[in-house]
Amino acid sequence: MDVTLQTRRLILRQPLPTDAPRLARMLNNFAISGKLSRVPYPYGEADAEWWLGTWRPDKPPAETGFTIDLPGEGLIGHVGFHLTNGEPQIGYWLAEPFWNRGFMTEATEAALDWYFEVTSAMHINSGLFAFNKASLAVQKKLGFTQIGTGTLHCLARHEDLRHIDTRLTRADWMARSGRTALKEAT
Ligand SMILES: CC(C)(COP(=O)(O)OP(=O)(O)OC[C@H]1O[C@@H](n2cnc3c(N)ncnc32)[C@H](O)[C@@H]1OP(=O)(O)O)[C@@H](O)C(=O)NCCC(=O)NCCS
Repeated sequence: MDVTLQTRRLILRQPLPTDAPRLARMLNNFAISGKLSRVPYPYGEADAEWWLGTWRPDKPPAETGFTIDLPGEGLIGHVGFHLTNGEPQIGYWLAEPFWNRGFMTEATEAALDWYFEVTSAMHINSGLFAFNKASLAVQKKLGFTQIGTGTLHCLARHEDLRHIDTRLTRADWMARSGRTALKEAT
């Protein structure tokens, strides 16, 4: 997939090999990796190069994502889709200097619009560590609801933490976006 999305303030584009130095600089922050399940801390340029090397343009929507680019600034985060136990899941992070300006809500809205447009998925899952109030606030704004709780390993903290599982249904997303037509499930 080679898709670029534009929002009011952001460009959502495909990751590039040249992103490695800035990606490492932004993501080498325990305030970020300590809230994600699969990102190690510390996070160096070799980690970024490895991750960028796994990127393939031909992956299906449920296994792809977008680098979040702020014009004039460059890469400031990522919103991506992956499969967990065969279920599509969305995850995201934003570089700390850019928090609390509505950027992630704006980016995830565009990514979800795209996802529900190009797939016939009836829902998308997500989740957050129970202490992650900012992520919970983002997901509430987007219409996710809690579907369960459990524990999940946090690579950066080397421990299992209480986790809240969430879900956004296509119906809720369409209703929120003021749309009525539902795609048929395949
Ligand atoms: C979670 C994260 C992506 C949010 O990005 P962001 O661009 O700051 O999000 P937004 O500005 O769109 O929205 C943030 C919301 O969280 C709220 N918030 C921030 N800190 C909060 C706190 N400590 N308690 C309660 N709400 C909080 C803000 O008030 C805002 O909600 P509002 O618009 O209703 O006021 C960002 O903080 C981040 O990358 N954190 C580290 C990685 C991470 O947690 N990723 C998600 C893993 S599930």
